[in-house]
Amino acid sequence: IERTLSIIKPDATKRNLTGKINAKFEDAGLRIVAQKRIHLTPAQAGVFYEVHKERPFYGELCEFMASEPVVVQVLEGEGAIAKNREVMGATNPADAAPGTIRAEFAESVGENSVHGSDAPETAAVEIAYFFSGLELVG
Ligand code: GTP
Ligand code: MG
Repeated sequence: IERTLSIIKPDATKRNLTGKINAKFEDAGLRIVAQKRIHLTPAQAGVFYEVHKERPFYGELCEFMASEPVVVQVLEGEGAIAKNREVMGATNPADAAPGTIRAEFAESVGENSVHGSDAPETAAVEIAYFFSGLELVG
């Protein structure tokens, strides 16, 4: 059974949308097996998004991710990585399919409400960045 790292981003926590977003995950058959609310520093966000460090929006992205608390969580299910990305919708809410989290809640391509791992290798690294083995309760 697969696991993926999810983040409910500052634009969504600020608007009190964590419950509505979690309902989307659960309705899709994803189980929340670990979850915590934390306030990242820009440096911690920078390490998390290091793959994007050459992109023009990197500084803005790190500041945004540190602007308000986030909810980091581990979602579990059959094909959880792909399923979660389906539920999230396209990066830019203008391109996101109806009913997806980003179509319903995202404010812009940058402030797009959720993050989800994109492959098994990144999921493993991202889960380990936020959670210890003891915190993962299947
Ligand atoms: P994540 O699940 O957050 O990784 O989103 P993604 O995989 O759909 O998108 P990608 O990995 O390409 O980009 C990571 C994040 O950078 C996005 O979710 C956005 O928050 C931000 N981002 C991407 N493109 C832009 C952009 O053109 N402008 C701004 N300001 N932010 C962007
Ligand atoms: Mg990505």
